[in-house]
Amino acid sequence: MSRAAFPENFVWGVSTSAYQIEGANVADGRGPSIWDTFSDSQTACDHYHRYTEDVGLLKDLGVTAYRFSVSWPRVVPGGSGRVNAAGLDFYEKLVDELLGAGITPYATLYHWDLPQALEDEGGWAVRDTARHFADYARVVHDRLGDRVDTWFTLNEPWVAAFLGYGSGIHAPGRTSPADAFRSAHHLLLAHGLATGALRAAGASKVGLILNFGPVMTPGQVGDLSMELAEEDAEAVARIDTLMHRQFLEPVLRGAYPADLLPLVERTAGLDHIHEGDLADISRPIDLLGVNYYAPTVVQAQPSQPADPAYPGSAGILFCTVPTAVTAMGWPIVPNALPLLLRRLSREYPDTQLMITENGADFVDVITGDGIHDVDRINFIEEHLRALRVSIEEGARVGGYLLWSLLDCLEWADGYQRKFGVYHVDFATQRRRPKDSAYWFRDVIKRNGLAESRPKRPTLETVAARAGVSRATVSRVVNGEAAVSSDVRTAVMQAVQELGYVPNAAARSLVTRRTDSIALVLSVPRPGGEALTAAVVQYVTSVLEGAGKRITLMVADTAESHRRIVQHAEARLVDAVILLPPSPDRTDTLTERLIRTGLPTVLLGKPSVASLVPYVDVDNSGGAAAVTDHLLSAGRRHLGIICGPLDLVAIQDRLTGHRTALERAGRHPLIATANLTTHSGAAAARQLLADNPRLDAVFATTDHLAIGALRAAREAGRRVPDDLAIAGFDDIEAASCTTPSLTTVQAPVADQAMALARLLLSRLEGRHTTSVIVPTRLVVREST
Ligand code: FCB
Repeated sequence: MSRAAFPENFVWGVSTSAYQIEGANVADGRGPSIWDTFSDSQTACDHYHRYTEDVGLLKDLGVTAYRFSVSWPRVVPGGSGRVNAAGLDFYEKLVDELLGAGITPYATLYHWDLPQALEDEGGWAVRDTARHFADYARVVHDRLGDRVDTWFTLNEPWVAAFLGYGSGIHAPGRTSPADAFRSAHHLLLAHGLATGALRAAGASKVGLILNFGPVMTPGQVGDLSMELAEEDAEAVARIDTLMHRQFLEPVLRGAYPADLLPLVERTAGLDHIHEGDLADISRPIDLLGVNYYAPTVVQAQPSQPADPAYPGSAGILFCTVPTAVTAMGWPIVPNALPLLLRRLSREYPDTQLMITENGADFVDVITGDGIHDVDRINFIEEHLRALRVSIEEGARVGGYLLWSLLDCLEWADGYQRKFGVYHVDFATQRRRPKDSAYWFRDVIKRNGLAESRPKRPTLETVAARAGVSRATVSRVVNGEAAVSSDVRTAVMQAVQELGYVPNAAARSLVTRRTDSIALVLSVPRPGGEALTAAVVQYVTSVLEGAGKRITLMVADTAESHRRIVQHAEARLVDAVILLPPSPDRTDTLTERLIRTGLPTVLLGKPSVASLVPYVDVDNSGGAAAVTDHLLSAGRRHLGIICGPLDLVAIQDRLTGHRTALERAGRHPLIATANLTTHSGAAAARQLLADNPRLDAVFATTDHLAIGALRAAREAGRRVPDDLAIAGFDDIEAASCTTPSLTTVQAPVADQAMALARLLLSRLEGRHTTSVIVPTRLVVREST
């Protein structure tokens, strides 16, 4: 076998699933599935009506195998009982079409589309569903068994159980940890019973497909051989048990892992696991399907609550890592594939393996001369190289099925995800090959990767030589600080030995340039609207002048926060500007954005100290200046109306006021308020009642000061003769009050310019520190 070739008879193919491509969800007697209920009936790729065209595409690719899934509700609309012959007709026609094209059909019996009728009776959380599944498997085999010889019972039961019943982000959307564990067991039982049924009916090959996300710490993503601290090793082992061993061990060794059972028992009891179940579950299989996309990155974090998708995971943090990611935000770590295959070969040496899914979501750009999806090609090529290494090492991997043939419906994420090697225009259903389709066709034709390696050493060559990830090489090349000196030395040595010249791709791997900047707006505090509007205007014009595009995103709900973080993780933008005039409420968003590793700058000092540069006005200096002004006008009894102290700006204004008073040997008289004019009036009334000699009021915002003006008028105090009043912010209304309001101006334009400049220097990789913009005292009639 040459260095780039794959073994003879290696199976090349693609995978799809029924709900993601078929559409026609009410056609010819199909019953509803949990996904129809969860996300509305969808046309998807209308494959039900276009399967002949799609088989044509498979033929063009030259695949030897095609893995599709059979829709249970199309075949047994009520989940159990009456069989819908028309549903079986469709799969029979599809199989005949495939065989006619010389393509081997692989049928998956369950790819997450449970008949809704069975969910209504308890879904996977009840035992009967497993029995009904075995009946349905037999029905499908009765019709297709003479033409299909490779059967996969389930696709990724972990996802079905823990995202469907645990975190609820998949159908049926339940959020019960107990139901999630019960569902996992019943799915395993369904697999075991269906395996028995298929064997009895004469099926020649039966397999199960699991999702694998090799569990590692952030440090290991850069260096797979890194030794772990005890608590991190425990975190890794616990997630590995929940995600992998919970399924591998019962199927391949006939027992649940000992460290899993206490977690299950605590959450769901053990009554659902019956005597004899494990014997059914561990019926021998011929093939284990491996779906691999990305590692699962975790570390110990004592205060962390359990992730609902991993009941029992308290104390473990799921981390984002600063490595190259797909548009899905999944880290690209091809080296984790050999690690996984080595582990499977070591622990389950008799099990025949097949890569049943691997592929990537990237944003595709349609140009006049095609869709040049270089990122997708690189992704697949790197994974195939890694796979090739594993096979050489002795891993028993008989094939590689790419996810996926077509851009399709990516479950809860809808149509925005693009995994296909064929582009689909969902308005017209037109299919168009991407460059990856032609590239994959060539790989299949030559049964391997191109021999001719690029003459110049690439980032991958350096990474392989130094034994680190591409992202690590890129970080070293980019001179980033967060790399240990050992790793840096190893990388630099490899760079020199190979004569490597970093290209733009290497330089931009960590911050892949999109020339887009996300401008994230949180809901401004009362009085902050004008600042937000002005900053948007200034920042936009400065950055657009510098050739950047601005994406405005509003951070007002938990869902919007999630989307914004995802956007950043997927590197759809180069950097983020966060406008949090109420920093307290956006701090977790700030932290999550920082963890994505994307350059971020903030407007307003964050309440939690961090290294993220921000632009703020000199709140304490401004408050001190206005206080000095009141003192120098002869005022002696100064009260302060203080807005909410969880706002950092308000804290700083109070500090400035205090400092100035202390210098004059005086003490503050404090009344608190929220941010409304109304509460400013109430606080002023209180100050006046408590301190009859009060002769000045400094309100920490103009809104509060306007309330104080009103309270003074109502109390018959003349402003400024009896009582001086000053505010902060210089909002538009401040000059229109009677009398007009003395205040502190925080120059909007200066803040905006500073923010834009800060961001541009961050993007250029220059060292940046936060900027404090000076304020200006505006003296008017009220003092
Ligand atoms: C896998 C699923 C498949 C597709 C890919 C992206 O987990 O099996 O249907 O959604 O992820």
